[in-house]
Amino acid sequence: MTIISDDNNIKHKIKTKNEDTTPAETSFDMSFEANIRPKCFDEYIGQSSLKSTLKISIEAAKKRDMPLDHILFYGPPGLGKTTLASVIAAEMNANIKITSAPALERPRDIIGILMSLKAGDVLFIDEIHRLNKISEEILYPAMEDFYLDMTTGKSQTLKSIRIPVPKFTLIGATTKAGSLSSPLRDRFGIIHRLEFYSDEELTQVILRTAKILDVETDEKGAIAIARRSRGTPRIANRLVKRVRDYATVKYNGKINEKTADEALDILQIDKFGLDNTDRALLKIISEKYNGGPVGIETLATALGDDAKTIEDVYEPYLVQKGFLQRTPRGRKLSPFACKCFNLKYTEIQKNLFD
Ligand code: ADE
Repeated sequence: MTIISDDNNIKHKIKTKNEDTTPAETSFDMSFEANIRPKCFDEYIGQSSLKSTLKISIEAAKKRDMPLDHILFYGPPGLGKTTLASVIAAEMNANIKITSAPALERPRDIIGILMSLKAGDVLFIDEIHRLNKISEEILYPAMEDFYLDMTTGKSQTLKSIRIPVPKFTLIGATTKAGSLSSPLRDRFGIIHRLEFYSDEELTQVILRTAKILDVETDEKGAIAIARRSRGTPRIANRLVKRVRDYATVKYNGKINEKTADEALDILQIDKFGLDNTDRALLKIISEKYNGGPVGIETLATALGDDAKTIEDVYEPYLVQKGFLQRTPRGRKLSPFACKCFNLKYTEIQKNLFD
């Protein structure tokens, strides 16, 4: 067992690859991601109302010497659901086991991981909406009353037995809360949506990451990256690395407004944070479907991508920024998109993306 953080007296233990892990468990590596990941609430920037709620629940659970209620996080990818789960485990002085629903396909996967837990552990299941029905049903009594319902023997000698599971906290994460079955959703005591980050919050994330990476970065450089990070810390951190590369090759390695803007222009990320795929998506709606509405499957075919990626990855930010509207009849460009480019609706279709 490796103690990776001892900040603020928090002993946060994360199991390493060959150490006491079950096959379904994802091992943690000490990569770039792990290195820059906040380890406690004080280091975690943004999501302030969620953090306040969680801090109270954690303090109450500690006072009662009970595990924290099960928690469900939902929202677009890259907003820090896994990071937050690790922070919660650290704040609870607990171990965390990290897995994802596709790794829990067979009953023995979920049983194995549940049986490997120790009292107080946090179990994090990513993409929990993808859990199959059998695994879900194994999980219900474990979540509710901390036991597993198992059957032994064959036909006439079939016996049902109950095996206790240590009291644990399940943290589920999903980009699609609506796809979760209601019996599963109802078993979470705390349900929270993670919000896109403001430019100010992303600037703080970028300055923190740059400091850990030891890249000299001024505030204006951080703001320039933040503006084009589509409200998402994962993207902001990725762009920091790209800008650092550019600044190293073309200048003196320092990140400032000039190096950031030049590097991001080369990456073809525009001032709204949109990349080539976002622009292609809007362009298709505009040119091929007269601004919409167009069904998601049709749009996916025209774009050459799958509907799930459009829905989970591209759409949330385009909707949040007001470029795209979801209507019962399909997706369409918003009046804001027209206003933003100072064009009449019909003009958009020929001029917007020339
Ligand atoms: N890196 C990624 N997400 C972060 C966050 N919320 N706070 C600080 N650093 C981060």
